[in-house]
Amino acid sequence: MVKRFGVSLEENLLKSLDDFVLKNRFPNRSRAIRHFIKTNLVEKKWEDNKEVAGAIILVYDHHQRDLQAMSTEVQHRFYKLILSTQHVHLDHNNCIETITVKGKATELKELSDSLISLKGMQHGKLVMTGMV
Ligand code: NI
Repeated sequence: MVKRFGVSLEENLLKSLDDFVLKNRFPNRSRAIRHFIKTNLVEKKWEDNKEVAGAIILVYDHHQRDLQAMSTEVQHRFYKLILSTQHVHLDHNNCIETITVKGKATELKELSDSLISLKGMQHGKLVMTGMV
């Protein structure tokens, strides 16, 4: 059930909220505030090392010696955290890999760090999200 409540804000803060709503294409203030609360709750879960979900995005040149073998090695070491791995060939050289993960925040961070720091990895990012 959705409940309504009043919010008191300084004029400049309200202006900032309205700018955010417009710039980020939220249909109204409520949806933007809901977004802020959920973002905060997800961040708190990560900070408290709760069970969370996310995605690790990796970009690399598949010609890089041993990189794919090392990546597979790491992924097998952490296989319990991995829900899926998607590999797409971006062009002749470059691959993008999206690894969907679920588990304790520190374990996901450890997996992500182990992959991103592999020799030859061009770019990597852990997107932290979760169930709230
Ligand atoms: Ni590829």
